[in-house]
Amino acid sequence: MWTPSTWREHALRQMPTYDDQAELTRAVERLRQLPPLVFAGEARRLRQLLHKAARGEAFVLMGGDCAESFDEFHPNTIRDTFRIILQMAVVLTYGASLPTVKVGRMAGQFAKPRSAPTETRGDITLPSYRGDIINGHAFTPEARRPDPERMLQAYHQSAATLNLLRAFAQGGYADLHKVHGWTLDFIKGTPAAERYQEMMRSLDKSLEFMAACGLTSETVPQLRETEFFTAHEALHLHYEEALTRVDSLTGDWYDCSAHFLWIGDRTRQLDSAHVHFLQGVGNPIGVKCGPRLQPDELLRLCEALNPRNEPGRLSLITRMGADKAADGLPPLIEAVEREGKQVLWLCDPMHGNTVSTRSGRKTRRMQAVLSEVRTFFEVHKAHGTHAGGVHLEMTGKDVTECTGGGQGIEDDALSLRYDTRCDPRLNASQSLELAFELTEHLTRLREV
Ligand code: PEP
Ligand code: CO
Repeated sequence: MWTPSTWREHALRQMPTYDDQAELTRAVERLRQLPPLVFAGEARRLRQLLHKAARGEAFVLMGGDCAESFDEFHPNTIRDTFRIILQMAVVLTYGASLPTVKVGRMAGQFAKPRSAPTETRGDITLPSYRGDIINGHAFTPEARRPDPERMLQAYHQSAATLNLLRAFAQGGYADLHKVHGWTLDFIKGTPAAERYQEMMRSLDKSLEFMAACGLTSETVPQLRETEFFTAHEALHLHYEEALTRVDSLTGDWYDCSAHFLWIGDRTRQLDSAHVHFLQGVGNPIGVKCGPRLQPDELLRLCEALNPRNEPGRLSLITRMGADKAADGLPPLIEAVEREGKQVLWLCDPMHGNTVSTRSGRKTRRMQAVLSEVRTFFEVHKAHGTHAGGVHLEMTGKDVTECTGGGQGIEDDALSLRYDTRCDPRLNASQSLELAFELTEHLTRLREV
């Protein structure tokens, strides 16, 4: 019998150790009393859209910070990420004539898996930073102590973030007549921004034609508002459990912390508590598939997570690395096809392409990111399967965390604005360039 708390009987990986159980219980009890952040019906709606993407009738754009943080919580940060996602989506929708399903790695993306449980600097060893929902980034014993109260702060920040996202999506900001206003000042003049303005001038003409036919923002809600969903890694199971509620319409359990939840590459083992937990919720879910995942293991995961083989339920997010994707993807795709498993294939071109510079900074090369995306499209085309979307670490801010792209960011420029709490993100200009590249891949598919 599955319940939201039975994950405790399974193999626990990447979970924090709280030193005061009573304090933990009190925090979880309070979370349990708070309203759900999303509704089950919205999660089911996303499931339908993901099914469309699995059939090649839509394209998924999932993106946001590697880790949200309490310090960086600001309406402008939320707005900037939202609008770069909108810009990318309009490029994809207009450029490739394909609906874009927009999903933010936002409003809950706080917990991080780490390669080591502790971090040592000089002769001091402290618990690793595991994301603001668990402990603090500063290298002090006070900050690094896992604090259950942080779950409540993460909840409230997520609620406020989601509220603003809903307002942006439905309150007129996302109106297609405002596409020019979405361009962020600092990317004006970059090649990607020029290309964007040019495409949008052409979109204006189409909108003028539609208006002449009577199709305006007043008459067509689709021009005035957009659908926007949220997603995060379901890593911190105390938090996820407390937000898992019974849907009054169907009687099923849903994890109401986000529309879409995924299992990371470090916690996707079959015996894992994280796999067990997501087995029981009705949300659409994803699994990160790294280069070490074996085809038979993947099939068993498909059976565990989607035993009725329902379309839209399970997304496989491959993150092989640019140099491993050509060899790594075919065995997984072939196994899934052979067994007739219903899945949506997404490409995360970030996590397999993290490298260290000579000065020891973590970065990602635009070239590698674009190359893994290209291979993703090529391999799926060769197998007759659909390249259904991308999963990105990106921000609307003008950071210098990934190298390459039209702004020509090189290793020695990385220290200028390297703000990430965890992994390096594409900045607004690099994200827009990627959108154009995706449009070209999608258009090429349609031509043949
Ligand atoms: C992530 O998406 O931030 C992450 C940790 O990814 P992965 O599980 O693929 O390494
Ligand atoms: Co990351």
